[in-house]
Amino acid sequence: MLLFVLFCLVVTSILARWILNRYNKQQLRDQLGIKGPPPNFFTGNLLQLIEFSKQVGLENGHKIGMEYAKQYGNVMGLYFGPELEIVVTDLEIAKEIFIKQFSNFVDRRKVPFNAGPPLSESLLVIGARGGMGGWKDVRSAVSPTFSSGKMKSMFSTVESTISIFMENMAEHAESGKSFDIYDEFQALTLDVIGKCAFAIDSNSLKNRDDPFYINCRKFFLESDMKRSWVIPIAFMFPELEWLITKIRPWTAFGRAEQPLVEGLRAVLEERKKNFNKAHNVDIIQLLLSNDEEHKSDTKKQPMTTETIVANCYAFLLAGYETTSTALAYTAWLLAKHTDEQRKLQEEIDEVLGDREMKYDDINKLPYLDAVFHESLRMYPPVIV
Ligand code: HEM
Repeated sequence: MLLFVLFCLVVTSILARWILNRYNKQQLRDQLGIKGPPPNFFTGNLLQLIEFSKQVGLENGHKIGMEYAKQYGNVMGLYFGPELEIVVTDLEIAKEIFIKQFSNFVDRRKVPFNAGPPLSESLLVIGARGGMGGWKDVRSAVSPTFSSGKMKSMFSTVESTISIFMENMAEHAESGKSFDIYDEFQALTLDVIGKCAFAIDSNSLKNRDDPFYINCRKFFLESDMKRSWVIPIAFMFPELEWLITKIRPWTAFGRAEQPLVEGLRAVLEERKKNFNKAHNVDIIQLLLSNDEEHKSDTKKQPMTTETIVANCYAFLLAGYETTSTALAYTAWLLAKHTDEQRKLQEEIDEVLGDREMKYDDINKLPYLDAVFHESLRMYPPVIV
């Protein structure tokens, strides 16, 4: 009996502590003098955000920031469970955060289902005090990989994949039948990222049964709030991070990502063994070469295998759906705005004529750049 009373006392005090802690966290917005929609004790504002997306359609979900700004001002607060996220829609304040006082804002929102491996050491997740020296160190190790010189060296890989995409387009045009261009763009971006970041010769454009394509599609399909209960639970109860990190490998999206991460790790180990013999031009090789330079510089820390794997994997997560969605919206907008389509065609014909595109041509196509930016402005694939 005494044991039972003791047990009840322990459980009640843990629960009371949890309730008090959450209550206090949900007072923070008022204490900061920031406004926002009233939070639910468990979900915060998560359900309001989902409801808004349902009402306006996923493609207009980003407009919620502007809608709330009308009601709550340019700086407002939204709760994800107990965590307060401050949303800024004022350009001057945004500049202050991203440029002038950036060193105070390098930490990211903690998303518990990404807190552990394989992503914890990646730029998408790592905090100011994470592995290596935190975000800043990982960023300065990864950034040189995206210099224009390095991009140029990967251009022929990208270009040869685009040629296959163009073959598919010609076949569709010849058939005269309608087709889903988004599906083609997804295969294109996957093949480019597969070659550039995973060092695998995937051929999703010609073969939708390609294992890389199947696992990536499965991962993205399953990492959806509506399909995986782990994701909303992670947002609502970040206190359970330790448990969610352990559950991840057994979730549907965790199972889909395992062969991708294992494949990456195997390529990396192989490349490390044969570093001097490899002549590949891809992100893994560029990160390894960068690391070799770091080893001779005592002030810089070399990257661990896990950090390289995490960041190559992050390029897939960050680059695949974003780029294919942006390309699909751009194609859709061009199909609807035929005058702009003609103007763009004229610019491209003038610069390229009948020859193949070269890397430096990108800078000679200002209208193409404007069209793509306008499409990103109207239908941003990511909202942060
Ligand atoms: C049109 C395509 C893309 C869009 C709209 C997009 C959008 C974004 C946004 C909004 C962020 C900021 C996220 C945040 O601060 O939490 C971000 C960060 C990032 N993106 Fe992209 N992205 C695109 C393509 C790519 C590609 C192709 C790659 C890699 C190959 C990539 C890799 C990254 C990485 C690594 C970060 C984190 C950077 C850091 O914190 O240092 N993105 N992206």
